Amino acid sequence: MTQPSPIKIVVLISGRGSNLQSLFHAQQAEQLNVEFAAVISNRPQAAGLQFAQQQQLATTVVDHTRYSGRESYDQSLIEAIDSHHPQLVVLAGFMRILTPQFVRHYAGRLINIHPSLLPNFKGLHTHQQALDAGVEQHGASVHFVTEELDGGPVFLQATVAVEADDTAEVLAARVLHQEHQLYPAAVQLIAEGRIALVDGRLYFDDTVLYEPIQLGG
Ligand code: GRF
Repeated sequence: MTQPSPIKIVVLISGRGSNLQSLFHAQQAEQLNVEFAAVISNRPQAAGLQFAQQQQLATTVVDHTRYSGRESYDQSLIEAIDSHHPQLVVLAGFMRILTPQFVRHYAGRLINIHPSLLPNFKGLHTHQQALDAGVEQHGASVHFVTEELDGGPVFLQATVAVEADDTAEVLAARVLHQEHQLYPAAVQLIAEGRIALVDGRLYFDDTVLYEPIQLGG
């Protein structure tokens, strides 16, 4: 059987880029059938940009501080992304709230990884939120992006146990370790055409998916 063509992805980052690294390493290990069309950051100093450059990936900075408004920024971002004609846009620690116009433009082609078991603990400081709530299970989710912040359909999750003596930092490290398995697996499901969002509805192997798939579950 011939291998299907890799899907073209653009990865958006703002910082450290450890999820970008996990995607890259999975691709190098032939566990992820993608072509990195570009890595785009809103911050010129993002550490993940250096990693991308070391790997000879195309990088672009679209610096949000040079724009007066969200609409004009997101329009430039759309132009930068679309010049690469990606099939999928992958948010990997991209710390910007996106306009409805941007989100609609990429409907069904835009995914994000969030460090909680959505719909629990949207927004920031998710690990502290989980500790404050006293939950026993925490984790990470991959979802398609919709206009509701951290509210789009979740298709893959990984769970970690919360330990009695966890600090937010310790818990974050345990979740991040799972994220690095989770995001390549999620992108590969899309690359294989096994997961899709059609008319706002999730499909897994052409069947409606009502609950997220659990990694390793
Ligand atoms: C991750 O925890 C991810 O879930 C969240 O932002 C963080 C990005 O980390 N959206 P990195 O830049 O990929 O290391």
